[in-house]
Amino acid sequence: MKYTLSTNNINETIYVGKILGSLLSSKILIGLDGDMGCGKTHLTKGIALGLNIEDNIKSPTFNLINEYTNGKINLYHFDVYRLNSLDELFLIGFDDYIKNDGIKIIEWSSLIKNILPKNTNYINICKSNTNENCRTIKFNFSKDYEEILIKAINIFNKEL
Ligand SMILES: Nc1ncnc2c1ncn2[C@@H]1O[C@H](COP(=O)(O)OP(=O)(O)OP(=O)(O)O)[C@@H](O)[C@H]1O
Ligand SMILES: [Mg+2]
Repeated sequence: MKYTLSTNNINETIYVGKILGSLLSSKILIGLDGDMGCGKTHLTKGIALGLNIEDNIKSPTFNLINEYTNGKINLYHFDVYRLNSLDELFLIGFDDYIKNDGIKIIEWSSLIKNILPKNTNYINICKSNTNENCRTIKFNFSKDYEEILIKAINIFNKEL
């Protein structure tokens, strides 16, 4: 299922993430893409808030993955921007992370698209040409998460 929405500031982007995070159950793989500085990490911060994770979410750029295990569900936050080879991913047990429970979010997932499962759920963030605080957020979710996405969108649209 595809859906596109817009946010007018950083708080709205965090809020979308928070709603989505609060609705998630134990297993989802999200590929998160968009230009540098478009808001991928802030959206992830929102998802973490929705999972009751209080930590300060930062891009795991130098260590590939940050794990947050003190929320409702474990969150595994990957950033593959600086990945040199797929071997680095296999060495940290990427396959097991993908298979196991927990929320998996991969920033710059397009760089490893060919090793991601078919049912990966994608979010793409796009900056606006005219307003530096506006973003277009495109969701492309698998059937399994369609219902959750619809719920999240309804809440977001109602509350704003
Ligand atoms: N509507 C918005 N949504 C999200 N971020 C916004 C918005 N408007 C402005 N911003 C700014 O855009 C920046 C987004 O930074 P963030 O680190 O989340 O991007 P990123 O996509 O993770 O970047 P990178 O590719 O370097 O990892 C922040 O400085 C934030 O304040
Ligand atoms: Mg980031």
